[in-house]
Amino acid sequence: MQIDFARTAWQDAAADWLVVGLAENEAPAGPLAALDEALGGRIARLREREDFTGKAGDRLALYDVAGIAAKRLLLVGLGQRDKLDAESFRKAMQSAARKLSEKKDVSVAVALPPVAVEAISARRALELAALAFVVGCVGQDRYRAEPGRHPFRSIALLAVDGEGDAGRGDSERGRILGEAINLTRELVDAPPREIFPESFAARAEEVARAHGLACEVFDRARLEDERMQALLAVAQGSAQPPRMVVLEYKGAGEGAPVLALVGKGVTFDSGGLSLKSAENMQTMKCDMAGAATVLGAMTAIARLGLPVNVTGYMGLVENLPGGNAFKVGDVLTARNGVTIEVLNTDAEGRLMLADVLSYAVDQGAERIIDLATLTGACVVALGEDVVGAFANDQVWCDRVLAAARAAGERVWQLPMFELYEELIKSDVADIKNIGGRWGGAITAAKFLERFVGTKPWVHLDIAGPSFASSNKPHREGGGTGCMVATLVEVAERYGEGNG
Ligand code: BES
Ligand code: MN
Ligand code: ZN
Repeated sequence: MQIDFARTAWQDAAADWLVVGLAENEAPAGPLAALDEALGGRIARLREREDFTGKAGDRLALYDVAGIAAKRLLLVGLGQRDKLDAESFRKAMQSAARKLSEKKDVSVAVALPPVAVEAISARRALELAALAFVVGCVGQDRYRAEPGRHPFRSIALLAVDGEGDAGRGDSERGRILGEAINLTRELVDAPPREIFPESFAARAEEVARAHGLACEVFDRARLEDERMQALLAVAQGSAQPPRMVVLEYKGAGEGAPVLALVGKGVTFDSGGLSLKSAENMQTMKCDMAGAATVLGAMTAIARLGLPVNVTGYMGLVENLPGGNAFKVGDVLTARNGVTIEVLNTDAEGRLMLADVLSYAVDQGAERIIDLATLTGACVVALGEDVVGAFANDQVWCDRVLAAARAAGERVWQLPMFELYEELIKSDVADIKNIGGRWGGAITAAKFLERFVGTKPWVHLDIAGPSFASSNKPHREGGGTGCMVATLVEVAERYGEGNG
């Protein structure tokens, strides 16, 4: 898909659609005033009559518009001017993209609103607009005879004066992020008969080759050599053998500190012998979202050529209740020697992550972030749209939270008080894999903490935001690609020495 950056006046841009974002309480000035004048005062009249006020989520299509070079005009509400941020701007642009990609072969010109430039900088606005149009035109309808969305023929991003050094580099960064997010979404959306540990690993190898990443795939024998008994136990009930993928990017050269990204890749979570209900199982193809997020982020980090060393670790298993399945009451010895009493085979994510995390630590990571669709409890605590953060190091956590804010993604930190440790003590082993009814997202994080030693570490529970149950104007249902942009932002800052 072609994305161009131009300094054309809005009313002169030739395209099937011109997209113009308007804030609620915005006095028409600059390019907006010029556009309104070309339209004979139409925007002002729409506002006066309250046919289009600029509320967040508003979209108004005007056909057959005289006075501008584009064939049609789409007005998009940006919400209140003082509330405009990276997240709300991206949502507005994505809802425009989703609307306009319903038809095939459409060309769009996107006017970058001066209010957005003021609120989040020209560079960020340009990047987010490109990202939103790349993400917004892809649906989860690969298997439908009539797809609901289509790629654009071309996208022109129209800048305005006074935007300093914003330009092609920013729209390119947006495209790269958007494509990385789409890769994550594609893998999450793919049915579990297509994406299982071996096929995920094969895809990772292919992607690594395309983007110049070093890639190593561990098979069962290698995982046994590495004593990854907790991960192997989870895989036991399935005919599909487990894998671990390690992707290496060295943008800062040999010897520079390494940021480790660790992802949970349960390609299908039936719950194992502690079987899930039919209803709770319906979305469990999404349980590899953590691994898919790491893969997506690694491609963007490599394509952007960030001056940083990042290693991605993806643990890949299928959790099924086959005849050889691990059992309730089993005691497992994890890679680092910690013994675990299994009291629920559906708390499998923490078991496999235990081994992957301790492997990452032994490989010499300086800092760690893990991403996992780990607990329903986190969704109960924070809702479907907010990622839970848990950490053993507040400085590192604050940096991850700041990166998320800049990227326009919602993350909220939960406490890691020592008192929670009591809840995962076992009578027969060092720890048990469930912590009882209350504080389930935190006891899961406390479990993981046992496997990161003293390394600064942040755990991101993406069980809610990584998979959307329904379509909304601003986003497609299914995989969302959440946290890809945040991880890339973290890596970028880490490389700049602000890590
Ligand atoms: N993959 C699930 C968590 C999940 C729930 C992800 C909802 C996405 C949406 C995880 O493996 C799981 O089953 N967790 C259990 C833990 C419990 C048995 C302690 C849960 O949350 O119920
Ligand atoms: Mn589970
Ligand atoms: Zn799971």
